Amino acid sequence: MHEVIGYPHAMPTPNIPLDPWPYPCWIAHRGAGTLAPENTLAAFRLGAEHGFGMFECDVKLSADGEPFLLHDAELARTTNGQGLAGALNWDALSRLDAGSWHGRAHAGEPLLRLESLARWLQALGLMVNLEIKPSPGDEERTGRVVAERVAQWWAASEVKPLLSSFSIEALRAARDAQPALPRALLIDRWIPEAVEQAIELGCCALVVHQAFLSDRRIEQIHEAGLKALAYTVNEAERADTLWAASLDGLITDRVDAFEPQARLGLRPGFRISVDELIAEPE
Ligand code: G3P
Ligand code: MG
Repeated sequence: MHEVIGYPHAMPTPNIPLDPWPYPCWIAHRGAGTLAPENTLAAFRLGAEHGFGMFECDVKLSADGEPFLLHDAELARTTNGQGLAGALNWDALSRLDAGSWHGRAHAGEPLLRLESLARWLQALGLMVNLEIKPSPGDEERTGRVVAERVAQWWAASEVKPLLSSFSIEALRAARDAQPALPRALLIDRWIPEAVEQAIELGCCALVVHQAFLSDRRIEQIHEAGLKALAYTVNEAERADTLWAASLDGLITDRVDAFEPQARLGLRPGFRISVDELIAEPE
């Protein structure tokens, strides 16, 4: 479980009104879920091929301050390296293989720098939810540096990345560095104070573990003026239920299963009508 630590600043920051909400409602988790090595360019390419216009991914810093994509604090699960990722400089990280663990087809796939991802996404007009995933003890620096780099690397984009985090400290640092960037608080269980915390942090959304969302909780989030996003939803039936409850964004691993809806940007409820849309006119 992630801990929501600390209490927000005494001074509330006005939340950023994003009206209309500029993001696609279907969001591919870690690039393409489990179909390609997570958080690598291969995953983003696959997610885009499956019709996804928005991606979630995990960002942390190398020891020398380079923002790059990796979920775990440790290198071992998804690279051929060992030890804490945040202890190495980018030069060493850039030489690791982040694809072979997934399968031979992706052997040699490198770790992805956020700067490279920024160029690729903007070239294709794709959007992103950057989860700030600091190495332990590096919360403030990661929030601050990611926000500064995002402001720089997406300066020409009308729609900025949505920055999210389980770490209050990282979100606070991101807000203090670049107050105009959209932010979301992540929670992996229902914490009644989370809505208030999100507002205090000037967030525009709450991203909640799907198991802890209900009609009433989505309503509560909306009543506070926030958008409600869910992770990680991989079952069609659960997606239908959440869309029917007016969910605003859904993060999924199943880029294959939800491809038609993602391609068309349809919220199920409308799912059945996909068949009607592609049916030959009589
Ligand atoms: O950002 C949503 C989700 O990715 C949070 O959990 O562990 O998959 O990064 P995790
Ligand atoms: Mg994540």
